[in-house]
Amino acid sequence: MTTSSSERSDRGVSLGMPQLPAPAYPDDVRARLETDAREVIARYPDSRSALLPLLHLVQSEEGHVTRTGMQFCADMLDLTTAEVTAVATFYTMYRRRPSGDYQVGVCTNTLCAVMGGDAIFEELQEHLGVGNGGTTDDGKVTLEHIECNAACDFAPVVMVNWEFFDNQTPESAKGMVDDLRAGRPVAPTRGAPLCTFKETARILAGFPDGREGAVEATGGAGHASLIGLKLAKGEAAPARVVHPRGETPRDTPPHEPSPAEHLSSHDAPQDTSASDPAHPSGPVAEEGE
Ligand code: FES
Repeated sequence: MTTSSSERSDRGVSLGMPQLPAPAYPDDVRARLETDAREVIARYPDSRSALLPLLHLVQSEEGHVTRTGMQFCADMLDLTTAEVTAVATFYTMYRRRPSGDYQVGVCTNTLCAVMGGDAIFEELQEHLGVGNGGTTDDGKVTLEHIECNAACDFAPVVMVNWEFFDNQTPESAKGMVDDLRAGRPVAPTRGAPLCTFKETARILAGFPDGREGAVEATGGAGHASLIGLKLAKGEAAPARVVHPRGETPRDTPPHEPSPAEHLSSHDAPQDTSASDPAHPSGPVAEEGE
């Protein structure tokens, strides 16, 4: 037995509290989105695989994923609204409420945090007058703390609409959000030029805007990310090994360490009697022996 798209959608909604139907898009908007959605769906062998880009598509229309947008996705993909909602609420890149033109994410994962990310986040909250997830009154900036963006070699990192701003300080981050709010040009450290959140969402839906060339021009990856590749290719000299306890003078010419001298040998666990003479290893004596 088959069910229609609307029947399946209604069944999904009925699992929760009764809800009014989602407001419909205006006809012209719906027609435009349907054209785009069909193009995206055609890229996949199974239509439901297009759900993630379609959620970005509806997010590019309204700036966040609304019930109208989720109903649209359900209709286009023959899914229930419950299925669409489950996905939209799982991934943090989908916003569920109106937010700013620029999503400023401060990485507060371990490395960025200790390198200054926590201080940046604290100072930006005070500077902007908003908490985590809050949006400035002018609707320009939404501040949030984010998880690691695999840019730890440039810590502390701030991302604006998923573009990188490397090696930030509280002062540079405050200056950057001031520029965003004032409409002054702001350029990421690397990658593509900055655009608004809605424009970013449309790119993520699978509609490039020609900025790929700019990425090529600026170089997609920074020096710190490429150094390992250059070492592997022999295009860069190995870093000088500095003994952690300073036993090797800093001006000693570098030499190739033998296996016995390798840092991993130094770091190997030692016998307790060597590492802690006050508590030598050996059988534990029973009381009364
Ligand atoms: S910890 Fe911040 S980018 Fe990895």
